[in-house]
Amino acid sequence: MREGNAPLVRREDYLAPAYWIKTVDLTFDLDPAKTLVINKMTVERNADLPEQPLRLNGEKLNLTRVMVNGEPATFRVEDDCLVLENLPAGEFALEVRNTCCPEKNLELSGLYTSGGGFFTQCEAQGFRRITYFLDRPDVMAVYTVTLKGNAKKYPVLLSNGNLLEQGELPEGKHFAKWHDPFPKPSYLFALVAADLVCREQKIKARNGREHLLQVYVRAGDLDKTEHAMRSLIASVAWDEARFGLALDLERFMIVAVSDFNMGAMENKGLNLFNTKYVLANPATATDVDFAGIESVVGHEYFHNWTGNRITCRDWFQLSLKEGLTVYRDQEFSMDMAGDASARAVKRIEDVRGLRQVQFPEDAGPMAHPVRPDAYQAIDNFYTATVYEKGAEVVRMMAKLVGREGFARGMTLYFQRHDGQAVTCDDFAQAIADANPHSELSARLEQFKRWYSQAGTPRVTARGHYDLASQTYTLELLQHGLPTAGQPNKAPWVIPVAMGLVDAAGHQIALQLEGEAQPSGTERVLVLHEAQQRFVFVNVPAAPVPSLLRGFSAPVVLDDGLDEAALFTLLAHDSDPFNRWEAAQQLGLHRLLARVRGELDQPLDEAFVGALRAVLRHATLDPAFKELVLTLPSEGYVAEQIGHDVDPQRIHAARESMRRQLARALHDDWVWVWETQQPSGGYRPDPYSSGQRALVNHALSALVLDATVRGDTVWPGRAYQRVKDAGNMTDRAGALSALLHANAELAQPALERFHALFKDEPLVLDKWFAMQATACEHNGRVFERVKALTQHPDFTLRNPNRARSLLMMLFMWNPAAFHRTDAAGYVFWADKVVEVDAFNPQLASRLARAMDRWRTLAEPLRSAAREAIARVAARPELSDDTREIVTHALAD
Ligand code: TRP
Ligand code: ZN
Repeated sequence: MREGNAPLVRREDYLAPAYWIKTVDLTFDLDPAKTLVINKMTVERNADLPEQPLRLNGEKLNLTRVMVNGEPATFRVEDDCLVLENLPAGEFALEVRNTCCPEKNLELSGLYTSGGGFFTQCEAQGFRRITYFLDRPDVMAVYTVTLKGNAKKYPVLLSNGNLLEQGELPEGKHFAKWHDPFPKPSYLFALVAADLVCREQKIKARNGREHLLQVYVRAGDLDKTEHAMRSLIASVAWDEARFGLALDLERFMIVAVSDFNMGAMENKGLNLFNTKYVLANPATATDVDFAGIESVVGHEYFHNWTGNRITCRDWFQLSLKEGLTVYRDQEFSMDMAGDASARAVKRIEDVRGLRQVQFPEDAGPMAHPVRPDAYQAIDNFYTATVYEKGAEVVRMMAKLVGREGFARGMTLYFQRHDGQAVTCDDFAQAIADANPHSELSARLEQFKRWYSQAGTPRVTARGHYDLASQTYTLELLQHGLPTAGQPNKAPWVIPVAMGLVDAAGHQIALQLEGEAQPSGTERVLVLHEAQQRFVFVNVPAAPVPSLLRGFSAPVVLDDGLDEAALFTLLAHDSDPFNRWEAAQQLGLHRLLARVRGELDQPLDEAFVGALRAVLRHATLDPAFKELVLTLPSEGYVAEQIGHDVDPQRIHAARESMRRQLARALHDDWVWVWETQQPSGGYRPDPYSSGQRALVNHALSALVLDATVRGDTVWPGRAYQRVKDAGNMTDRAGALSALLHANAELAQPALERFHALFKDEPLVLDKWFAMQATACEHNGRVFERVKALTQHPDFTLRNPNRARSLLMMLFMWNPAAFHRTDAAGYVFWADKVVEVDAFNPQLASRLARAMDRWRTLAEPLRSAAREAIARVAARPELSDDTREIVTHALAD
């Protein structure tokens, strides 16, 4: 298949670079309209390869001069490359001078301006928009950087590493000179020049070394930096304690910037963050925001070792750093959360995210292996598959070698590869070699199919109990569905953590045929063939199997359990993940029955009673209760149906069930509201966050039930909370309760909320997002979103703001977006094209909202295809967006 403009880059075509760049000395004369960059490199030919021209990448640059060893050089510029031939044999000095225009850079890649300051974003290929360079991760150089700029406008001048000197310059300018002792690829370069203030703290590492930690923000935001700093301190301590990885720099800086395409960026010693993942205080940020900050601060900090000290050989290896670092940030959040129950809550949330985003990706037109084989625009491969499924692959390795074994593997990985640019194979090899007697070592080549095969494996489990022989036989089967370019799949290595529960809820001791005696009540069965049989002996009565505990592998499991078995697991399983999963299955069955049959069938008392038992349970965690009481999302239900999906009907089914549950559990929700509120001042810890989540869920149910019955007491209480809540979690919870009930008080509450927070950009993002995700009713949400694009506070230029309205509608409000009159799709196409003209990365993310169009029912499917084709027909489309729409339309 021939794709759009950009050629396909293939993993198989990897070649080592023809030249190495050893050192870089950069000088920036910063000016928003025209910044001068002087780039002095020492370069050396790669002696392993035949002699060839040096081709440096450069994009949207004005080249002013090129010198080799101090003499003007002959060169040519072709295809965004500066080409030099007949270069000296040994090491030589190469100087390039160019200018660029930061204020016109709306793509937010390279050097750009935001809020009057200068910021950079170089991953994956932004450095070439700053100066000519070998812009690929396997070329690692030592950087020295001098920044010059107006002292009043840009009092803070930062770059990677350590500050060497700073001082005044003529004409009101000043300078700062930085040096980073660690060789690094260009994607980890960063600079900041802006009017910022910082919170700072000195810490002492275990080895007694002192470090300076700093969090830089705009002047008014200093009161929102405490949590980020706390999270950073905790991250430093955690990596040292869990993996023996210490901070290797004297100074570690975080800088918040409000215009940013992604979450944050791990530049060496100078992490740049979307403000969303730094700024928080109880008045402006929710519990979810606080948790997000902790995990992203951890994520970027952990990259210092997994990504920066050991980096990727090429971009196909992206999951080497991202999958591993997501695994590390998930583990960090779990360790911070504390007890087993809080850890399970975090695991459930992560799996929910994986199923809602990565599973559909694996089933759609953008399906790709964790280590992709080809791309047109690398920015399109910063995906849930590379990140979240990549993390699951690391998690499975850890499961197969054990916690200690995994720590040994990490140590070996750093012994072997510190300072290198390596591959996913190198990582897996190190973990296996450190654990020679493990199941991972025994089946390493097969295990690595997780890196090469796209698509979510299907596992089927069927059990048979034989009373006479007291044996339980568990049959496990696996198969993979075809994905683009991969019609057939070979078996994966799938760790299936499991236990057996008896009817009274006791865990049965496990003894496999051939074992001398039972040991433990939980096992990891390793499924590696298409079909395998496991026979448990000395099983006194028919058990209920609890399979894939803790979601031990990223697969779709058909365990064939009947309702009675699911009720047993929900009530008794020792594995909290599978308890939650049983409730999801029970809820799903009922939702599907409504989608397929009568919308308003009565809810059975068995289900309501089981949920009530969880809700009223004396010892279960409130956060866990809230998760169990939350029905599967509309998107998840759509994926289960898989074809001829009618989002309106799914919405109607889920709403009817939500109303029935609100009614049936009315008194229980009142009890939650009256007795489960957290006491004391606000703290974003997992326990009180869980309490607030449960209480907000209660309020939402009570407001919904009251609105249905025309009662005004609960809506009135919610409105009161919007006015006077003591923290943003409760305030936003109350507002969203009104919006999800379509209560009359929703409108005045929205106005109130806006008036209170009109000067807080991150809160305004919530205000837009809540309206875009409000409960669909007679097409009103879509009309509102369209109107909001004209609101004075709305702009497409700021990615957070654009996402808060558009992405929320396209991705997270299916019933409002998928309209039979196709107005949603027309709007989608218009916005994708409009954004693509200035920010292709953002546009291609919006474009992906249509990935699953083929699963829609008619007439939606045809209307969707037409809208995608309309976008694809635009000749001026970016490579990013072109790649997405081309894949979407390919058969
Ligand atoms: N490496 C970053 C992370 O995962 C991701 C990232 C930040 C990024 N900014 C980007 C990826 C811009 C592509 C483009 O933490
Ligand atoms: Zn990352």
